[in-house]
Amino acid sequence: MITPSVRAAIVIIFVFIASSFGQGTTPRTCDIAKHDDNNLTLNCSRRNLHLIPQWPVEINQIKKDGHFLITFYNNSITTVSQLPPIPTGRIAISFKRNRIVDIEKDAFQDIAKLVYLDLSKNLISGEVLRSEIFHGAYADNKYNSIALETLNLAHNAIHSLDAYLFQFTPNLTRLYLNNNPIEILDHVTVLALASATNLEVLDLAQTSIESIPMDAFSTLKKLQQLDLSGNKFTAVPESLSLLGRSLEYLTFNNNPVLELNDDSFVGLSSLVELEIAENDYLDEVKRNTFSPLKNLKVLHLCHNRNLRYISHNAFRGLKDKWTLKEVYMDDNNLSELSPDLMPWTKLDALGLTGNSWLCNCELINIVTIQKAGQKFKYGEIPYCTAPLRLSGEYITNITISFCPTLDTSFSSKRRFGITDLKPKHILWSIFGVAIVVCIGMAIGYIVNAMKAIYINKIRNRNEPIRYVNLNTHSLA
Ligand SMILES: *[C@@H]1O[C@H](CO)[C@@H](O)[C@H](O)[C@H]1NC(C)=O
Ligand SMILES: *[C@@H]1O[C@H](CO)[C@@H](O)[C@H](O)[C@H]1NC(C)=O
Ligand SMILES: *[C@@H]1O[C@H](CO)[C@@H](O)[C@H](O)[C@H]1NC(C)=O
Ligand SMILES: *[C@@H]1O[C@H](CO)[C@@H](O)[C@H](O)[C@H]1NC(C)=O
Ligand SMILES: *[C@@H]1O[C@H](CO)[C@@H](O)[C@H](O)[C@H]1NC(C)=O
Ligand SMILES: *[C@@H]1O[C@H](CO)[C@@H](O)[C@H](O)[C@H]1NC(C)=O
Repeated sequence: MITPSVRAAIVIIFVFIASSFGQGTTPRTCDIAKHDDNNLTLNCSRRNLHLIPQWPVEINQIKKDGHFLITFYNNSITTVSQLPPIPTGRIAISFKRNRIVDIEKDAFQDIAKLVYLDLSKNLISGEVLRSEIFHGAYADNKYNSIALETLNLAHNAIHSLDAYLFQFTPNLTRLYLNNNPIEILDHVTVLALASATNLEVLDLAQTSIESIPMDAFSTLKKLQQLDLSGNKFTAVPESLSLLGRSLEYLTFNNNPVLELNDDSFVGLSSLVELEIAENDYLDEVKRNTFSPLKNLKVLHLCHNRNLRYISHNAFRGLKDKWTLKEVYMDDNNLSELSPDLMPWTKLDALGLTGNSWLCNCELINIVTIQKAGQKFKYGEIPYCTAPLRLSGEYITNITISFCPTLDTSFSSKRRFGITDLKPKHILWSIFGVAIVVCIGMAIGYIVNAMKAIYINKIRNRNEPIRYVNLNTHSLA
């Protein structure tokens, strides 16, 4: 029926459509850049692609340990189809900011050396992430594993993960699930997480979760870094204590937690850096809160705008083996701190700006005698809010002379000698004596004056006697 000429016309039209679709087939739409022998980038960003193109021939030049980055950032891809093979190298692929709603079964099976995959900012749901997706070729009646180390699923539409999702990704070390509507870490999601036993970094920020079941973390013996920010936790989850041996970085910002106490960080003895910020309801840090953190080096306790009180025992038990180097307590609602809260001299950096400091003798002790004033970063000197006469003064500018007895630990060791007398002291003493003398004289005058009035009154009381005399006069 179809004549050769018609067939030729159809072929021509098809070729025309294909080439005008362009992106679908021609590798020329992407830029390939060879940085050095071992490092190749295929830039397919912002090309309005709907389909994944064939790879350019250069991929065959990649060496076994060479790096190959392919980026489809900001296109209109809706489906990740089965990717063309890439024989070797360490492969990174980014599909960030597309419109992906589906991923084909076996999508990555011909890229066994895919180590980094960014699927963030798409429309992927949990149902799309089936167990047949992240695996290598099928051989000998089973799937091979893939090298995947970093998987970014942030900013998608994931409620739940398949229990077997990470069955063939034994090297998965970094998993980003932040900004997904997870809400509840259900049984299957917990099984999926628990199977990723080599995880070192897990991001669960902004996932609307309010609790973490104990069994989610019990197998994650290597987890070093965890972000739980922007969730609905009213307390630091107890299940974190199972990560005590490994967890080094914890971020716990923006949760509706009311107080931190001796239950908050139980067992987290490996923690090196802790960030607790933007917790709008946090108003108190109680005694022993930080006591379990025997290796903490950096503490960020900032932007908790209702945090008013930190117990002077918050670091109890840590002072003998002090490890903290940097403490940032900026932009809270603090007004006072105890001089024995921590050994301030041992810090390298301290931040106290953005609070409503009452510049009392305790604060001056911390800043001056314990030399905390030398730890502020350049241009980050806090100032006094109260008392009124010091309001607006830098706390480093206030001198110790008006707090003579403030430092018990030092004054008990130091006798007050005549050499400590300064002209100022002598002047004050003379002034004091003068005031006593003046007051004495004033009292004298007052007593005399009152005596005079009293005598006067007695005289006036004598008047009726005279009146009696008048009476006698009238009688006369
Ligand atoms: C590849 O080379 C570029 C430019 O020299 C460099 O910025 C990039 O970090 C390299 N990538 C890898 C993975 O080595
Ligand atoms: C990739 O290509 C886009 C569009 O041409 C360009 O804006 C972007 O800077 C390129 N990125 C790199 C890393 O070269
Ligand atoms: C993505 O690309 C579109 C045009 O294709 C552009 O208008 C938009 O600003 C880009 N978005 C980002 C975040 O780069
Ligand atoms: C996992 O990493 C190890 C060590 O780097 C490597 O020998 C192994 O081949 C990797 N596994 C896969 C499936 O690529
Ligand atoms: C800080 O605390 C004071 C009471 O001590 C309160 O009146 C004020 O509203 C608090 N500031 C903020 C920003 O919450
Ligand atoms: C702090 O003291 C220095 C010199 O003693 C003075 O120049 C500076 O104005 C003071 N700053 C404030 C904010 O009081």
